[in-house]
Amino acid sequence: MADTVTMTDNRTGKQIECPIIDGVYGAPVIDMKSLYKELNMFTYDPGFMTTAACRSSITYLDGEQGILLHRGYPIEQLAEQSSYLEVCYLLLYGELPTAKQFEDFRANLNQRNMVHEHLERFYTGYLYDAHPMSMLIGVTGALSSYYHEAMDINDPVDRELTALRVIAKMPILAAHCYKHSVGHPFVYSRDDLGYVENFLNMMFSVPMRDYEPPAIAVKALNMMLILHADHEQNASTSTVRLAGSAEANPFACIAAGIVTLWGPAHGGANEAVLKMLAEIETPENIPKFIERAKDKSDPFKLMGFGHRVYKNFDPRATIIRKVCHELLDELGDEVVDKNLLDIAMELEEIALKDDYFIERKLYPNVDFYSGIILKALRIPTSMYTVMFALARSVGWISQWLEMMEDPEFRIGRPRQLYTGSESRDYVPMDKRG
Ligand code: SDX
Repeated sequence: MADTVTMTDNRTGKQIECPIIDGVYGAPVIDMKSLYKELNMFTYDPGFMTTAACRSSITYLDGEQGILLHRGYPIEQLAEQSSYLEVCYLLLYGELPTAKQFEDFRANLNQRNMVHEHLERFYTGYLYDAHPMSMLIGVTGALSSYYHEAMDINDPVDRELTALRVIAKMPILAAHCYKHSVGHPFVYSRDDLGYVENFLNMMFSVPMRDYEPPAIAVKALNMMLILHADHEQNASTSTVRLAGSAEANPFACIAAGIVTLWGPAHGGANEAVLKMLAEIETPENIPKFIERAKDKSDPFKLMGFGHRVYKNFDPRATIIRKVCHELLDELGDEVVDKNLLDIAMELEEIALKDDYFIERKLYPNVDFYSGIILKALRIPTSMYTVMFALARSVGWISQWLEMMEDPEFRIGRPRQLYTGSESRDYVPMDKRG
């Protein structure tokens, strides 16, 4: 039995054999590269529902089983036992670091945890109430101007240096977005603090006093960053890969990823969930919103529900829901908004019993509960997607690195099915009807 799929054009009877390629896990792929040359046809797959765009060894998802692996390690174990910085190392280099490797990694990042003082002037161009994602897009794109001539993306040493710069500088840029929005002075990164403690210090410390984050806040944010670090070929990662395939500046590629993540259908959903829960206001209003979500004439969707890949449950949502309760038990409802959590849980319970959601396999995704934790950490709603972008920046740059080193690397250039006018001659303005 040949490892091929036979494609037959029944209009001409012409057949081609397309090789089947197996991965370590998951659906095998059909190598369709010869389709256009042999059968003069393209595949048609809007939204890339069944298209594998690349080979990758970074992350594996199983949507039916609710499995998420990073370099083979289950997300549940990483969230429980690892740190975000260690997961950064794992995503970048493919293995968990030894103690020495991890210390060297941290030292390398500490060499790059400053941004040019002039970059901070970019923030002054934004009104204080500009959406922080609009700021992050701008300043991350601007970062490319500091590392354009001095970087050769064809040099593996420069590529690794770029990845270290992204990991070291993104928390600074993200924290500055918040500081600009509240009119506080920017806080410099510190070598003596861990990644999460350093970020929270840049977010919340003020000149008059140091900021000591509660241990539970550090633990919760560390877990949140791990859960959002990478997720296979999602929309924003695919954007970074496509931009990178044109050999664009990698910082500009990351900015393109941030642009895509901002969409409420993608990373912007975490902010949209909080707004939706606040709009629902009381559990009694839930049925009205469930009906709106089912009404095709109403553009309202249940934010935080549904996923292109997970058709059973999002393992990240399960972990986040558990941490919500731990935070509530430890910090009490003066910090964790119990009303929001109650509405979220009641909404989840009602939706998961409703045939509309059951038939369409719509379950809570990573964004459904994450906002409740971020709110408990005193992070404003407008910063939620910035937090997602911060976490995902290591996934984007890891996927960019993998693409740049891929022997099959080439510029991404999809085709189309043309449905426009047939060829016609130009008509001078005075001859038109
Ligand atoms: C993220 O890809 C990733 O990995 C993304 C992510 C990551 O880590 O990078 O996991 C992060 O983006 C999570 C998703 C966050 N977005 C939301 O929570 C927004 C609400 N969700 C929907 O917009 C939607 O579910 C998507 C965008 C997440 C998935 O869209 P799909 O796969 O294209 O699903 P679909 O639009 O084909 O929906 C199938 C059906 C449709 O109804 P029918 O036409 O079959 O009648 O389900 C309906 C949809 O209208 N539907 C919803 C719904 N989601 C899908 N109806 C109401 N509420 C919803 N949330």
